[in-house]
Amino acid sequence: MPEQLPIDGFARSARARNGTYEAVGSVWDGEDAELLERLLSFYPRKRPKRILDATVNGGRFWRGSTRSIIGMDIQPQYKPKLVGDNSQMPFRGEAFDVVVYDPPHIPNQGRDNQKDFTVRFGLVQKSSKETGYSFSHTYPAFVREAYRVLRPEGVLLCKIADYIHNHRYQWAHVDLIQAAVAAGFQPCDCIVKVRKGPIIDPKWIVAHHSRRQHCYWLVFRKSDKCE
Ligand SMILES: C[S@@+](CC[C@H](N)C(=O)[O-])C[C@H]1O[C@@H](n2cnc3c(N)ncnc32)[C@H](O)[C@@H]1O
Repeated sequence: MPEQLPIDGFARSARARNGTYEAVGSVWDGEDAELLERLLSFYPRKRPKRILDATVNGGRFWRGSTRSIIGMDIQPQYKPKLVGDNSQMPFRGEAFDVVVYDPPHIPNQGRDNQKDFTVRFGLVQKSSKETGYSFSHTYPAFVREAYRVLRPEGVLLCKIADYIHNHRYQWAHVDLIQAAVAAGFQPCDCIVKVRKGPIIDPKWIVAHHSRRQHCYWLVFRKSDKCE
């Protein structure tokens, strides 16, 4: 097995700026904020200056970060810099170097009082039978807007989780890749982020699906090539 790289995103970004290459591993078991800092140092061709977090919520991705970002969220209670809908962004075209996206998942389940699912996973929102109890129908409008507001060669970084609902595997990451490709993005990379514990509905006792102990960070580029 390859040796795990040291988890030191901030020091690493300084080395990257000095022109020293350091690989990113395909499995991550640290915090999102550290991984995101690594991704921001690794994928953009130039140091990104204009960064949009299109689903900022409480801003956990930016804890410890010195980067200046614009955080938007549709829910005013999280007090984002901008309250708005990421399927209709109030920005001119080619305004950003990087867009970050962490859409709500597990729409109508997971009400485990032990965990703050409601806040962290966007459970305020619902998805009906008509929309397949998933949020996949929201991806096409978002990725079209992300494509529009990104400058050429700009990078879209998405955290996305598959899950089980109604005894059916919901392939959120596949739906997101298909929507992004249809919008014109190159799908460039996939990192498995290990969760400390599986997301489970407390009603589950026996389920013949594996327990999801990971999600993905997907990397897209507004370009005809990845490298
Ligand atoms: C999973 S949470 C994001 C968590 C965030 N990355 C963090 O670590 O703090 C998803 C967020 O997306 C927001 N959201 C859902 N639909 C949206 C939309 N159409 N436009 C903007 N924000 C939206 C929800 O209100 C929720 O705060």
